[in-house]
Amino acid sequence: MKFFVDTANLDQIREAHAMGVLDGVTTNPSLMARENIRGEEACRRHYVEICRIVQGDVSAEVIATDFEGMVREGESLAALDPHIVVKLPCTAEGIRAVRYFADRGIRTNCTLVFSVGQALLAAKAGATYVSPFVGRLDDISEDGVELVAHIVRVYRAYGFKTQVLAASIRHTRHIIQCLDAGADVATCPLAAIKGLLKHPLTESGLAQFLADHARVNG
Ligand code: G3P
Repeated sequence: MKFFVDTANLDQIREAHAMGVLDGVTTNPSLMARENIRGEEACRRHYVEICRIVQGDVSAEVIATDFEGMVREGESLAALDPHIVVKLPCTAEGIRAVRYFADRGIRTNCTLVFSVGQALLAAKAGATYVSPFVGRLDDISEDGVELVAHIVRVYRAYGFKTQVLAASIRHTRHIIQCLDAGADVATCPLAAIKGLLKHPLTESGLAQFLADHARVNG
């Protein structure tokens, strides 16, 4: 399973990259706003900087909601760097844009997916990635991980090439659950990735090793 970090924060992206396990980055307009990145030019520069750090897939989301606007924006984002993946919402216009880009060899991430039906349309349109939102389904008492598993089953049964990118991951356990569900990618907050490292027996074991070494070596 590939690891993406779900942030537009450059320090966090650098830290995740330095861990040596980062495959890519996903952003969205809310994450860009959280970093106070204003205006089209600033956004474009920010995406280029993320690509420079990561050298892996970087999802950049369009703001337009109409097909022509999505195409215009997506083409200009894709031209920024070969690592850019154009992120499009799972709406009728978005699916049409996914097909447009697929036909031209431009990679896409179909986002805001909350049902198998939406994931089916994204795959049929030729999306590179589909992003089911795990945490947001859990927030409304539905089962986000089960949706990931369901999409994986359907895609495997029918041989769809679209990769299942589990998004809206909120904590470390979600990562393990998505791994079990067969997700191709999990895009996670940095804290959730770091949580995978934590184990009290690792910490106490290391402390004991170092104490024994110091006892003999001074
Ligand atoms: O990038 C989309 C997704 O990961 C958002 O997560 O926590 O805002 O539901 P969240």
